[in-house]
Amino acid sequence: MAKVTVIGAGNVGATCANAILHMRYASEVVLLDIKEGVSEGKAMDMMQTAKLYHFDSVIKGVTNHYKETDNSDVVIITSGIPRKPGMTREELIGVNAGIVKNVVNNALEHSPNAIFIIISNPMDTMTYLTLKATGLPKNRVIGMGGMLDSSRFNYYLSQELGASQSDVEGIVIGGHGDTTMIPLISKASCKCIPVTSLLSEEQANDVVAKTMVGGATLTKLLGTSAWYAPGAAAGTMVQSIIMNEKKIFPCCTYLDGEYGQEDLCIGVPAILGKDGCEKIIELELTEDEKEKFAKSATAVKNTNNILYESQILTR
Ligand code: LAC
Repeated sequence: MAKVTVIGAGNVGATCANAILHMRYASEVVLLDIKEGVSEGKAMDMMQTAKLYHFDSVIKGVTNHYKETDNSDVVIITSGIPRKPGMTREELIGVNAGIVKNVVNNALEHSPNAIFIIISNPMDTMTYLTLKATGLPKNRVIGMGGMLDSSRFNYYLSQELGASQSDVEGIVIGGHGDTTMIPLISKASCKCIPVTSLLSEEQANDVVAKTMVGGATLTKLLGTSAWYAPGAAAGTMVQSIIMNEKKIFPCCTYLDGEYGQEDLCIGVPAILGKDGCEKIIELELTEDEKEKFAKSATAVKNTNNILYESQILTR
C-alpha cells in the first residue's frame, strides 16, 4: 500500500492529510513541518478519529525529520506562507521560492522515486521551480490549481443553475491566478446539456467572474487562504496516481509545445496515473480561449522570470 508525505502542517497541509486518510488509499501518511509539535499534534488528533471514521491508515507527524518520509510514493508540498486579504498569489514568490526549493530537494533525497504535487503559491511558478531545481522528469511534478479552480467553477455553476454539483461538469485551465485562470464556460455542461444553453450570457459571465476570484473571496472571509477544497482537490489527484485510475483532471504541468506553449508549467487537462502526469489532453479551444491562454502563459512566464532574476534558478 502507498505512502504519502505532506510537507507543511498548516491549514492546507493538515486538511490534505486528513482528506487522504478519509479516502483510504494510503497505508501510511507522514505530515512534516518545521514548527515543533504542530504536525505531531495534528497527526495525533487525526489518529484519534480512525475508529470513528473507520480508516486503518496510519498518520505520523514529524518536525523536520525527513528520514521519516523515506520512500514515499507521493510528496505533497504545501510549505510557505498563504496569502492575506488583498494580496495576490504572485506576491508570495519572494518568501515561498526559497522555502519550496529547499523543501523539495530534501524530500527528493529521501524519496527518489516520488511524484511531487505542488500546492504552495504562486503555484504555477512553484511547480516550475520544483521541476527545474530537482531536474525530475516532467511527469513527476504536478501542480494543484486547476483542480481546485474547477471545483469552485462547479460550485458556482451549480448555484446559478440550481443543479446538483454531481450533474455539473466544468473545467478551468490556464494559470492559478485571479486574472490568469480560464473557466471554460463553452465546454461546461449539466448532464450533457451545455450550460450556455441554460444560462443567459450575463449569468454565465457572472459565474466565470466569481470563479476567477473564488480564492480571493474566501481569503477575504477567512483572513487567510482556504483549505477544505484545496485539501480535497489534492487528495483526489493523489488517489488517481496511487490507484492508477487514469482520471482526467486539470493539472499544472510542463508544456513542451502543447497548446502552442513551451518552457512553463500551467493548467491543462491531463491523465493522472501511476506515472504521474501521463498524458496532456489538447482541447479544441475557441479563438477567444486561445487568446486568453496565450495571455495567461505570458503572465505565468513573467512570474517565472523572477526566479531567474533573483537567482533562485540559473539558466
Ligand atoms: C486557493 C489557494 C490554495 O486558491 O491557492 O485557495
